[in-house]
Amino acid sequence: MAKPIEISNLSKTFRGKKGIRVDALRDLSLSIEPGEVFGFLGPNGAGKSTTIKILMGLITATAGSACLFGKEISTAQARLSVGYLPENPALYDFLTGREYLGFVGKSFLMAAADIEARSDEVLGLLELRDAANRPIRSYSKGMVQRLGLAQALLHDPDLYVLDEPMSGLDPIGRALVKDIIRSLKQRGRTVFFSTHITADVEAVCDRVGVIVRGKLEALDSVEHLMRSGIEGYTVQVSGGAPEEGCGYDFRPLKGDGREYYVPKDSFNRFIELISAAGGKVELIETRRKDLEEFFLEIVK
Ligand SMILES: Nc1ncnc2c1ncn2[C@@H]1O[C@H](COP(=O)(O)OP(=O)(O)O)[C@@H](O)[C@H]1O
Ligand SMILES: [Mg+2]
Repeated sequence: MAKPIEISNLSKTFRGKKGIRVDALRDLSLSIEPGEVFGFLGPNGAGKSTTIKILMGLITATAGSACLFGKEISTAQARLSVGYLPENPALYDFLTGREYLGFVGKSFLMAAADIEARSDEVLGLLELRDAANRPIRSYSKGMVQRLGLAQALLHDPDLYVLDEPMSGLDPIGRALVKDIIRSLKQRGRTVFFSTHITADVEAVCDRVGVIVRGKLEALDSVEHLMRSGIEGYTVQVSGGAPEEGCGYDFRPLKGDGREYYVPKDSFNRFIELISAAGGKVELIETRRKDLEEFFLEIVK
């Protein structure tokens, strides 16, 4: 099966009026596997939207190429099975939400009955049913964002390309979008989304790519990143405790000698000493770098 997204050596240089060059994207190569949720993480101005606009055929690359399901992005066929949420979606605001979905459905050549049924479904999913017959002009920012996602879902595509899908949403809206991404994954869909918020990646992604100043600086599975970030453990013990100063670098955290910080490499020895002293481990908590710390290290 062709990869949902295959990006090869993509570069983009913007040239301003006064001859100012911006290298927004530098030699980006990346492929996305079927069924994965991929987080495209980077600070503001990193080149995320530029990449996504190139993939959607809205702007052209200066160099390199890309395919969606094996089809060159310059062809309309490439986009038929893609749901796209632009950053700051600008929707025809004189239409009602339902009318707008009708317009999108027709663009994707959906049958009228399908459009009606799917519109109901996605309006419900994004909690927009009450506003469905009001002009978009009267929507809040969060509602426009949710309608933007609703239109991306409408034709039930195999691939989702979402530019900052959680932006402008309150915590309830963010949780809703994360739930939707998880359920898309369960149904075997592929999701590629951009964000500048590491917690969003931790919550839903299989893999993450970190882009900084137009360059892909890191690419890894979220699970591997999190595991490699383990620094040590906080261990609570009862009963006997190891003697202090026995040559190991774990240390008690509180005065009562019941809680220790144990670096990763001393863990096995610590457990041996505890049981030799007749003690018992009550609780182990992992101490790790979180994705935010990785992200900050990479960006710096
Ligand atoms: N049309 C444009 N003309 C000139 N520079 C642009 C244009 N669009 C984006 N850029 C620049 O390209 C860089 C990447 O922008 P963008 O892809 O929007 O970043 P991100 O989505 O990661 O925040 C930024 O420096 C931005 O100012
Ligand atoms: Mg952007």
